[in-house]
Amino acid sequence: MTTHVSDSPANVVASRILGTGHYAPAQVVTNDDLAKKVDTSDEWITTRTGIKQRHFAAEGEASSDMAAAAGRAALAMAGLNVADLDMIIVGTVTPDHPIPGCAVHVQRKLGADDIPAFDIAAACAGFIYGMSIADQFIRGGSIRCILVIGVELLSRKMNWDDRTTCVLFGDGAGAVVLGPATRPVDGAPPVGILSSLIHTDGSLAGALNIPACGSAEPPVLEHLENKQDKVHMVGKDVFRTAVRNLTSCSAQALKASTLMSSDLDWVVAHQANMRIISQVSSRLGFPLEKFVINIDNYGNTSSASIPIALDEAVRDGRIQPGQTVLMCALGAGISWGAAVVRM
Ligand code: ACO
Repeated sequence: MTTHVSDSPANVVASRILGTGHYAPAQVVTNDDLAKKVDTSDEWITTRTGIKQRHFAAEGEASSDMAAAAGRAALAMAGLNVADLDMIIVGTVTPDHPIPGCAVHVQRKLGADDIPAFDIAAACAGFIYGMSIADQFIRGGSIRCILVIGVELLSRKMNWDDRTTCVLFGDGAGAVVLGPATRPVDGAPPVGILSSLIHTDGSLAGALNIPACGSAEPPVLEHLENKQDKVHMVGKDVFRTAVRNLTSCSAQALKASTLMSSDLDWVVAHQANMRIISQVSSRLGFPLEKFVINIDNYGNTSSASIPIALDEAVRDGRIQPGQTVLMCALGAGISWGAAVVRM
């Protein structure tokens, strides 16, 4: 997948993925491990979600550490150096600090120049949002090479008394390097991001949130005692919305790319729940065997889930150059999006 960022801006018609990478913390927490501190079981978690284990960050490990590791791996696959980057975009709702953004720390840890580096807070849709924004910059011709990262450290945002939600999430980071794709020659099909779209429905903000300890409800002892600084989710509402919206935005992205589901080689959907993925598969009429699935090993890593799954499938040879991949995600906001990419 090695490519060089050397194309003239006039010939740039899209952005393409030059390299992928991911990082998962070493500590693995199985369902049986969780059952020792939460009133749950491997049987319940497996049958309701498909999750068997997740990774938790070590003490002292921050989101930006995981993000920088994933970014370095993506740059290495692309055959590029940090000095080649023009921008860093990080999708995360678990930055190291409220101020400054996680991308600022990533820039510092990678040793990048004074290139723009900023966060996108679109929860599980953060990576699709980041990629869609990066695509606009590259198509516009002003920026050539962008590192897009999804990273989340949600194990520190769990309410361990809420067994329905706390068993779902894991920590990790995934990244892609995007660069220019030029006009195809000799009738070759176009490569790169063929379409991307993003949506938000703020009327559903209460279905998945951290209720307090932001500027609206500053941290007070009562909020901390009531775990209002932790993730709160109305799981059934999110589930129904996820199946409906992931299906519709995937169909929209396909239409915008002038492709049909039969043209796809792979779907990399957000890994929130195996039952959501199965229902999207049957509604799209695209076989489940062609979905890249790793929820069993990682749980829901929010904005990191798509780039982690993508990187695993690229590195183990499932996803090949020239193949067409649909990506779709939905999370808190409710925010969602999809992209069709020819690798
Ligand atoms: N272990 C054992 N039993 C449990 C557990 C648990 N961990 N959690 C709940 N139960 C019990 C409940 O108490 C309930 O028991 P009852 O029938 O006796 O009352 C029963 O299991 C069913 O509970 P439900 O909440 O109805 O379970 P459901 O089948 O809806 O599954 C789940 C819950 C997994 C959360 C599902 O709703 C879901 O996946 N929602 C979508 C999550 C999602 O997509 N998130 C995406 C975005 S995340 C982001 O953006 C950060």
